[in-house]
Amino acid sequence: MSKYKIAWLPGDGIGVDVTDAAKIVLDQLGLDAEYVHGDIGWEFWCSEGDPLPQRTLDMMAETDCAFFGAITSKGKDVSQQELSPELQGKGYQYRSPIVRMRQLLDLYVCLRPCKAYPGNPLNYKDGIDLVVFRENTQGMYIGVEYAQVPEEFYAVEGTEKLPRDAAISFRAITAGGSERIVRAAFEYAVKHGRKKVTAVHKANVLRQTDGVFMDAARKVAAEFPGIDFDNANIDAMGMWLLKNPFNYDVIVTTNLFGDIISDLCAQMVGGLGFGCSGNIGKEYAVFEPTHGSAPKYAGKYIVNPVATILAAKMMLDWLGETDKAAQLEGAVAAVIAEGTVRTYDMGGDSSTLDLARAVAAKL
Ligand code: NAI
Ligand code: MG
Repeated sequence: MSKYKIAWLPGDGIGVDVTDAAKIVLDQLGLDAEYVHGDIGWEFWCSEGDPLPQRTLDMMAETDCAFFGAITSKGKDVSQQELSPELQGKGYQYRSPIVRMRQLLDLYVCLRPCKAYPGNPLNYKDGIDLVVFRENTQGMYIGVEYAQVPEEFYAVEGTEKLPRDAAISFRAITAGGSERIVRAAFEYAVKHGRKKVTAVHKANVLRQTDGVFMDAARKVAAEFPGIDFDNANIDAMGMWLLKNPFNYDVIVTTNLFGDIISDLCAQMVGGLGFGCSGNIGKEYAVFEPTHGSAPKYAGKYIVNPVATILAAKMMLDWLGETDKAAQLEGAVAAVIAEGTVRTYDMGGDSSTLDLARAVAAKL
């Protein structure tokens, strides 16, 4: 029996290209793992009315963690049109498989390290090395939304201000949910020798929800006197991050703000081809590149696999295979620094798999 059992979820589009690339380096590292393929993605929405079938969730329950590529999702009307004819009109609703996995498996940490590897021509500034902790289960993404304000809402004091024809989305933030994400950020800072944690919010406007978040953040910060703690408004943070990314170290924030900030940080270190992420809970984790399925490049094997290879590095760290993780990161860094094997986004014409093979050759 292998030491690890890993749910392997390539998804669709370039999800397949980049997970093929990651597999090359994992095999070269000799990770003692069994990879179990799982169905996920657009085709399963079309054919079964569920892009994340129950059999995939059941299979995941038998594994240590999951490795995910990318999936396509489409707007409301197109989703219904592309649903197989015998399923149409039966009440099937598309739900994001990633958001569902995060909620079902309580993967409350979305961890996104953003490091500018020396020699990457796409670095915004050399030396950037940030880590974003995004709360992954609450906030604006709880999925409680109304196309129109339900009439009974108007019975509650203060709701008269809601326009009758407004669509509304709920933002839900608990003290417990905030404390655990902030604690994860501080524990990471301690473990990795980071100096500072910055909590990002908009507490001056979103007084209730971000009030809860910031109270929790201050409370947890007090438990870690050895780590500097500061905070910033989300809007100002967009500006300060660009102006001086070196002022930040570990950033912790709520779901939607974290979604935005982590894309900004990823762009500063090379863009979508470099953005890796871990969705991490107490017992289980799903690792993935942050980019989507880029349908126009699907199956062409020309996109950058570095994000996915770095997601594999994160998975190795999480599994406790820290030596292999460090080796893998070193190999990626060496290939980037050499600059001879580069995908199109870095100005080269190497293929996805050539880049993976170049990394494997350094191992
Ligand atoms: P996308 O991330 O798929 O691609 C946007 C553009 O970024 C691509 O056209 C390409 O130019 C570039 N790009 C992406 N990955 C790259 C890589 N590895 N190397 C080099 N260049 C890369 O985002 P888009 O076009 O907005 O969405 C396409 C589909 O992906 C949609 O159906 C969307 O819903 C889905 N999506 C899925 C995600 C996931 O599976 N986690 C996340 C984001 C979008
Ligand atoms: Mg995003």
